[in-house]
Amino acid sequence: MWMEEGLPDFFDIFSWKLVLIVLAAFIIRAWLKGTQFKEKVTAKALVAVVTGANAGIGKQIVRELNLRGAKVYMLCRDKQRGLQGAAELVHLGCNSSRLIVKEMDLTRFASVRQCAKEIQQEEKKIDILINNAAVMLYPKFKLTEDGHETTWQTNYLGHFLLTELLLPLLKAAPSARIVNVSALAHFYSEPIDVSTVDRRERWDARQAYARSKLAQVMHARELTRRLRRDEASSVTINACHPGLCYTRIMRHTPLAITPLKYLAAPFAWYLLKTPKDGSQTPICVAISNKLNGVSGKYYSDCQEKACAEMAMDDDVCQTLYNSSLEACGLGEWDTVSDARED
Ligand SMILES: NC(=O)c1ccc[n+]([C@@H]2O[C@H](COP(=O)([O-])OP(=O)(O)OC[C@H]3O[C@@H](n4cnc5c(N)ncnc54)[C@H](OP(=O)(O)O)[C@@H]3O)[C@@H](O)[C@H]2O)c1
Ligand SMILES: *[C@@H]1O[C@H](CO)[C@@H](O)[C@H](O)[C@H]1NC(C)=O
Ligand SMILES: *[C@@H]1O[C@H](CO)[C@@H](O)[C@H](O)[C@H]1NC(C)=O
Ligand SMILES: *[C@@H]1O[C@H](CO)[C@@H](O)[C@H](O)[C@H]1NC(C)=O
Repeated sequence: MWMEEGLPDFFDIFSWKLVLIVLAAFIIRAWLKGTQFKEKVTAKALVAVVTGANAGIGKQIVRELNLRGAKVYMLCRDKQRGLQGAAELVHLGCNSSRLIVKEMDLTRFASVRQCAKEIQQEEKKIDILINNAAVMLYPKFKLTEDGHETTWQTNYLGHFLLTELLLPLLKAAPSARIVNVSALAHFYSEPIDVSTVDRRERWDARQAYARSKLAQVMHARELTRRLRRDEASSVTINACHPGLCYTRIMRHTPLAITPLKYLAAPFAWYLLKTPKDGSQTPICVAISNKLNGVSGKYYSDCQEKACAEMAMDDDVCQTLYNSSLEACGLGEWDTVSDARED
């Protein structure tokens, strides 16, 4: 008997509690997803270049830029995976005549040069360059064919070379923007000592990642300084943190190992951003009208944030820049602009 009386009560309490819990879960989830970029700004007639474009955050960046009217070059390590990514984007409503897949492996300077050369032959200007590709916690110390540590070359040096090679095209656009997808992890980097980055001794996967991401922020600041010296140039360069996203970047971590993968999946799905959420800040930095002329800054959640203290030392940024030019086989800056077009 008591059951019949107790039942409605129980459900009454249960249901409003349930409603509250569900509501709270939605609010927390919305907060975790972070700021979404909603500005009505077109990308019509713009030419964009995105690295690591076949998956994760890069693919979502390509999608948004294409939907807003841009012609997008998708630079991918593997042509086949690139074409597959493009086909998926077309399926999601992108315009295929404005999606161009190019092969570019950042761990091979020759491949970066070849790719930059092809783009130079096809385009007169580039409005947006997004350096997004990366490996994280690559498990072993390995030198590339160019003699550099793999994470350092993939995340930093390869992009450094690409940026330098595309600079003439970027300068040819009315107001070009370079966006580097860095990471919060750059805060955890030790000071960069270029004389030891390519050495096996004391190599550490976490430091290798943090360091490459710190170098990106430093590059933004030094390149800004250099571009500002050149008054005719209207190229801007900013770095950003996309937020923690559920993508394949975890592939080299224990979280990708089978039993753990399935256990962690529901938590990751709830707690981490989607790749689309992660693409919001890079897109904002690439096209928002609010950032006209802004350069050398670091963004997170579509807002300017302070970057690591270490990236604020101009001398250190300059030293890194000089040694990176050398590491990529490029000459002095002021004389290099013609030489690097070959
Ligand atoms: N996910 C996060 O939580 C998070 C947090 C902070 C920062 N970020 C940054 O966000 C960016 C995008 O990460 P994501 O999460 O989208 O990662 P992802 O899903 O692993 O995508 C990385 C992309 O980079 C490409 N790539 C890797 N090595 C390459 C190489 N040698 N040459 C050319 N392309 C290469 C990959 O190509 P393949 O498909 O061929 O491997 C892939 O397209 C990265 O810069 C990362 O540091 C991510
Ligand atoms: C795709 O974009 C091109 C160039 O902007 C345009 O001419 C064409 O009509 C678009 N195609 C579709 C199906 O919207
Ligand atoms: C972007 O990264 C490239 C290479 O990692 C570097 O040359 C450039 O200065 C960086 N720019 C920003 C804004 O971090
Ligand atoms: C970097 O190279 C430039 C040009 O050669 C030079 O003027 C500058 O002093 C160098 N900076 C550092 C910190 O080595």
